Amino acid sequence: MSEQRESRKESTANGEGIALWGGRFTSGPSAALAALSKSTQFDWRLADDDIAGSRAHARALGRAGLLTPDELADMEAALDKLQSAVDSGEFAPIEADEDEATALERGLLDIAGDELGGKLRAGRSRNDQIAALIRMWTRRQARVVAGLVLETVNALIGQAEAAGHTVMPGRTHMQHAQPVLLAHQLMAHAWPLLRDVARFVDWDKRADASPYGSGALAGNTLGLDPLAVAKELGFSRTTENSIDGTASRDVVAEFSFICAMLGVDISRLSEEIIIWNTQEFAFVRLDDAYSTGSSIMPQKKNPDIAELARGKSGRLVGDLTGLMTTLKGLPTAYARDLQEDKEAVFDQVDTLTVLLPAFTGMIATMKFDKDRLEQEAPTGFALATDIAEWLVKNGVPFRHAHELSGECVRIAESRGVELWDLTDDDFIAAFADFLPSVLAPKVREVLSAQGSVDSRNGVGGTAFARVSEQIKQAKDRSSQLVQFATSTSDGSAYRPAGSLS
Ligand code: ARG
Repeated sequence: MSEQRESRKESTANGEGIALWGGRFTSGPSAALAALSKSTQFDWRLADDDIAGSRAHARALGRAGLLTPDELADMEAALDKLQSAVDSGEFAPIEADEDEATALERGLLDIAGDELGGKLRAGRSRNDQIAALIRMWTRRQARVVAGLVLETVNALIGQAEAAGHTVMPGRTHMQHAQPVLLAHQLMAHAWPLLRDVARFVDWDKRADASPYGSGALAGNTLGLDPLAVAKELGFSRTTENSIDGTASRDVVAEFSFICAMLGVDISRLSEEIIIWNTQEFAFVRLDDAYSTGSSIMPQKKNPDIAELARGKSGRLVGDLTGLMTTLKGLPTAYARDLQEDKEAVFDQVDTLTVLLPAFTGMIATMKFDKDRLEQEAPTGFALATDIAEWLVKNGVPFRHAHELSGECVRIAESRGVELWDLTDDDFIAAFADFLPSVLAPKVREVLSAQGSVDSRNGVGGTAFARVSEQIKQAKDRSSQLVQFATSTSDGSAYRPAGSLS
């Protein structure tokens, strides 16, 4: 053993850091490089997955005859010990550890000794290791986030059911457009969230491939069985190309997109709630437990959860943008830039797991002022389309019907009244070129918000029967998706309970 190796070994025994490389170096890393290079402050949350990977890899070495049965048993016992020490916090990274893999190798060498511990690294590289770990971690977190999103969806469904026949102003361009059921409007926010969860399910099929066995970039020479490793880690297959396996992060970027999209979907609902909760709208009141006060203005009750949701969507999108930008210029195979994939998705998951429960609580407990919604629903000439469609049903071509209805709006607006305040003579005069005067005033039959809503009974429309139908569909979809949220993504048989993440 060279002098340098000797001293490296000694430093391990002294409980100092180890280096996973250094044979060809005459000096250790400068303090500035070490500080830049270090990632344990964020990647330590992959420790459980790393140890699970080490167990599976040890078995692969055993099957390939590179560890004897006794050595394998000792290695597994050492890994169990290491996992317990990690779980209890007794073992943690130290300043000198470059990354979680370096720290765990130091831990293993301390427990198993250099001779046995030093055998585990054969046939794998941190490049295939880390590529596998981020997939394991995101696959597990996708299920956690999906479960939280489904709770938000269920809160929306609960509100939609409670809303019953309540009508409200439906808006386009933020202007009164046509009356809709409150339930319909709420469900319009449930569907995008259901699609986000479905995106996780679909994404998981692509994430379900283990890069283990890819080595540094070109595969391994040791006759290991990567598929067996994959299966032990909860993957159904291995990546097809070892360069791709170690160097692509589109799987991470796609996960990050779904998190960003969730942020955007939640932000749009938040914006709605913030507006509805203003004094001018006064459509909804937030529960005291889910709103905040002002330190100076005693009367204030603020929609902070919705505002934080809207604000945090910025960082969720920012995480995705940063990651995409990191990936953009990279040649294959592995480059150290790829280390930057982790914090983006860690931050997204941390953000969503704090945000979603609060958001769901706010949704579940908010109270609508149904009388006010009902009262506002038909105002702002929101029934003008109903007049046009009534004319069409009475044989007037739509182009003219649109004109005639517009004429009614013009008259009402000039008098500062609503459409239903127009007189029979107004309608008779307006429709004179097309309808007999006995028929014209009957247009009043459609001049109610409830009538307007009831008549929109095409598929996906706002009529009560259609909305009840979609609520049922959403419940069915949600209960299918819960199966994903409660499924397991990892070889849990190989991991003791208690995850760091
Ligand atoms: N910590 C690195 C990462 O997260 C893995 C280490 C690979 N380093 C290397 N020099 N090949 O991507």
